[in-house]
Amino acid sequence: MSAPSGPLELLREALRADLADLSDRQPRFFRAPGRVNLIGEHVDYSGGLVLPVAVDRATIVAAAPRDDRRIRIRSREHGEIAGFDLDERLPRPQRSWVDYARGIVLALRRRMPLAGADLAVGTTIPMGAGLASSAALEIAVGLALCAIADRPIEPRVLAGAAQEAENSFVGVQSGLMDPLASTFGVRDHALLIDCRSGAVSPIPLPEGIVLATVDSGERHALASSAYNRRRIETEEAARLLGVALLRDVSPERFAREGDELPPLLRSRARHVVGEISRVGAMVRALQRGALEDAGALMNSSHASLRDNFEVSTPQLDLLVEAALDIEGVYGARMTGAGFGGSIVVLLRADAAPALAERFGDAATIVHAADGAAALE
Ligand code: GLA
Repeated sequence: MSAPSGPLELLREALRADLADLSDRQPRFFRAPGRVNLIGEHVDYSGGLVLPVAVDRATIVAAAPRDDRRIRIRSREHGEIAGFDLDERLPRPQRSWVDYARGIVLALRRRMPLAGADLAVGTTIPMGAGLASSAALEIAVGLALCAIADRPIEPRVLAGAAQEAENSFVGVQSGLMDPLASTFGVRDHALLIDCRSGAVSPIPLPEGIVLATVDSGERHALASSAYNRRRIETEEAARLLGVALLRDVSPERFAREGDELPPLLRSRARHVVGEISRVGAMVRALQRGALEDAGALMNSSHASLRDNFEVSTPQLDLLVEAALDIEGVYGARMTGAGFGGSIVVLLRADAAPALAERFGDAATIVHAADGAAALE
């Protein structure tokens, strides 16, 4: 057997050692990737189209069964061990990383019997950077607990449980994009997800391009309340337009009826309606290999998130501008919820050194990876 080398193999070996402090039993390992979203931002909870890419940065869980009904979980990043009972009644969120694990336990135990387990978790996804670290933690823990309980779970059911964990326990009214990206990821592909029907279609990424993230380092404490407010605003706009979801409003209809909305809700709806049509255009651009067009769509998406949806920050705007100054960059935009976090950059492969020189350690090349799975 060759020695572990890549970051994920090294993490796995570190977790093997972490778990050995908790359990004498042989661990099993589970991996769930983070994602970048190429385009289709803040439209999943309006039933829109999104185009995320599961990436080669991931959360890994080492897991071993226990004979009682406890869950013990050790986090490398937080240097802590948390414990709780599988059957605990009325737990309250603690506003900490443990909430994601408790949230997925609560959501899964409504669906199936679970069994006690010792878990060690660690990640190569920067936390709070807009790369879906929380979905990856929920999915990886969920996959581990289902395997320990000997209850195979459909990826779609697991993704739904992760969304429920966020909505009902963590307190973020997020959509399905992140858990679906983490469970359905396909190597070398983006995922076109129709968040109204739930259909997931892998879209091949063209040759010769590279995706990179640049982390702003900004982490906004109030991001979840601002996020939830955006969701309420889009629901209110849909209600005033007489539809269940803004997905049901075509650009033509918005051009006719959008003026009936109060100004703030009109801006929010303008973003959602425009962004959904940009996703369709992006898929066509990628399929034609029209990379200049793909980049221009990303840039328009960023402008709309900045001006209409108001979820960007001056720092993210500066990063986007700086990325667009680099020869060989097709497009750049904030990715994920915003209010800080990262941008995603689409560039020609030979422009990667210039990006690294401009942004140093903040820039990371990411590769499209497969979705969550047990590791051999
Ligand atoms: C977060 C949420 C997703 C999605 C994005 C914005 O990542 O978890 O459901 O709404 O923000 O597109």
